[in-house]
Amino acid sequence: MNPLLWPATLHHLRRDTPEPERLAHFYGELLGDAVERIGPALWRVQGPSRLLVVGEGEPGTVPYAAFSITAADRLAGLRAQLEREGVATSAFVSPAVDAESLAVTDPDGRSLVFVALPVEAPRPVPGPTGRLQHFVCATAGLASMLEFYRDRLGFVESDRVIDAASPPEEAMSAVFLRSDEEHHSFAVFRAPQSRADHHSYETGGWTDIRDWADRMGELRIPLWWGPGRHGVGNNLFFMIEDPDGYKVEFSAEIERVPRETAWRSWPHEQRTLNLWGSAWMRS
Ligand SMILES: [Fe+2]
Repeated sequence: MNPLLWPATLHHLRRDTPEPERLAHFYGELLGDAVERIGPALWRVQGPSRLLVVGEGEPGTVPYAAFSITAADRLAGLRAQLEREGVATSAFVSPAVDAESLAVTDPDGRSLVFVALPVEAPRPVPGPTGRLQHFVCATAGLASMLEFYRDRLGFVESDRVIDAASPPEEAMSAVFLRSDEEHHSFAVFRAPQSRADHHSYETGGWTDIRDWADRMGELRIPLWWGPGRHGVGNNLFFMIEDPDGYKVEFSAEIERVPRETAWRSWPHEQRTLNLWGSAWMRS
């Protein structure tokens, strides 16, 4: 395990699409956030404790996820440790934040960026809160993704889902990983093809979930899944789709898990993903 990663917090994502201006304004309206053009085909959508870079690319893609690790000296230590472990690192300049950064490439070809930025203290905001909290991808190579994120980068495994109907070497159908005491800041689902899956905004509680859902109603954005409560992570949630069909989650009450707690196993069934009813099964 790489102890230098802990604690790390999801800071921002780049979300690509063929029509980035349209998608940037979708997220701006969805969240009530400021939309700013920061490059020829690049937009920043920023609100309290959340940041999205929207760029031009394939629909529904997330070319990188950026985690903050609070200080430049920790970034230098992480870089040295990754290089000792044979993980190639590269300098990275985020178009959205002015901070020292490094990037690594995961087995699916997505960049993981680490930025030396202090974690923002939450500021009081009018209306429901929604802090960018986790990113999830689906993959055709779950074992190698787990090996990379857990054993090379130092994420800590919180829970795994086991599909007893699959051959033992292919039985793992999802894994949830944490980089601070929140149950997962990153997760990976087994799927026929690798792709970005969703990201989540952690809210202040059940009434914030209600208020966000009321906002979806005003915007005529139908809830796509939920409200429900995940078994894994124990968080209340609902999801909507953005214009590419990429999912966006609003969550509350995500479980807190001390660093030393060992991972647990869940069966591959709908209840694992939704204690209240039906689930989105990626495989
Ligand atoms: Fe999620």
